[in-house]
Amino acid sequence: MSHPLEQLREDALREIESESDEKSLDAVRVRYLGRNGSISAWGEKMKTLSAAERPVIGKLLNEVRNAVTAALDARSEEFRAQKESESLGRIDISLPGATGASGYSGYSEYSGFSTPLTGYSGFVPLERGSLHPLTQMLERSIEIFRRMGFALADGPDIEDEWHCFDALNTPPEHPARNEQDTFFLRDGRLLRTHTSTVQIRAMQAAPPPIRVIAPGAAYRRDELDATHSPQFHQIEGLYVDENVSVADLKGALEFFMRELFGPDTAVQFRPHFFPFTEPSLEVYVKSKALKGGEQWIEVAGSGVVHPAVFEQVNEARGDKAYDPEKWSGYAFGLGMDRLAMILFDIPDIRLFAQNDLRFLRQFA
Ligand code: PHE
Repeated sequence: MSHPLEQLREDALREIESESDEKSLDAVRVRYLGRNGSISAWGEKMKTLSAAERPVIGKLLNEVRNAVTAALDARSEEFRAQKESESLGRIDISLPGATGASGYSGYSEYSGFSTPLTGYSGFVPLERGSLHPLTQMLERSIEIFRRMGFALADGPDIEDEWHCFDALNTPPEHPARNEQDTFFLRDGRLLRTHTSTVQIRAMQAAPPPIRVIAPGAAYRRDELDATHSPQFHQIEGLYVDENVSVADLKGALEFFMRELFGPDTAVQFRPHFFPFTEPSLEVYVKSKALKGGEQWIEVAGSGVVHPAVFEQVNEARGDKAYDPEKWSGYAFGLGMDRLAMILFDIPDIRLFAQNDLRFLRQFA
């Protein structure tokens, strides 16, 4: 037979379950746990019990009190949550925001909204942003190189001549060093003409083996037209290890291009000249998946790192870490603007910098 306290607990729990609002639940709380409540009354009764009974019944009383309190709290929380979801249920989340079709938040004359939003008392919805197509291209590319084991490296846009030219085996009379072609600062520094500067910085910072990519902007004094811009973007790549060859370079770039443009992408390497690679190769792609895909498009410069570059790095490091007898490497510089233009079928490089929302929204 169950103890009357257990009976009390059963009754209380049943009542708590059957109440349907906070007010009647409160009445239950008072009936059981209030000063004259039936559970509280047992506290008095304890005094009349024998020393043997007291600890057993005392323990039971605690359990009953805790169980009933917990059930009351839980039920009360249920009522609160129910009330909240009822009031939320009345919000129509399908209701469009207040700024109309252009969606502009009202600060500009482009909002397409006849009344200025100052003084407007409705909601001003936040625009949902999206990544710039060049950034998307960059992230896709970095993700592929990451899978190939490349780490990220970095260097400044404002460089010294040594990192941009001398260390890259580019002599003073080289046309790239001409004032007509490069943005020089008064102090003799310059805006880097390529991201190859980071090859040097990465090798100065760490001994071989090394496998890095360096995405970033580069600058040349080009006239701005549909295919040229004084600021453009590259991903530099550098891999130095034992026995690295042209075959490794070709394999890596072919893999990259096929990941990017699809398995039907053909990659072609044509002999070229860069002072800091020997041999040097220009990289072309062709893919049916791309618009104008029947045509070879130049997308990168590349080659096997020239031993003279290692010698320059060693001199700067003050050691023989990049011993050209022991180590070899390949490097490449991918034109990101070009890659994005062919992947997204963008006809004009100027669109990247004009911030025209009609253009940018297409990549959202
Ligand atoms: N830096 C070269 C350019 O901008 C590209 C390149 C990078 C070539 C690495 C070879 C190796 O044209």
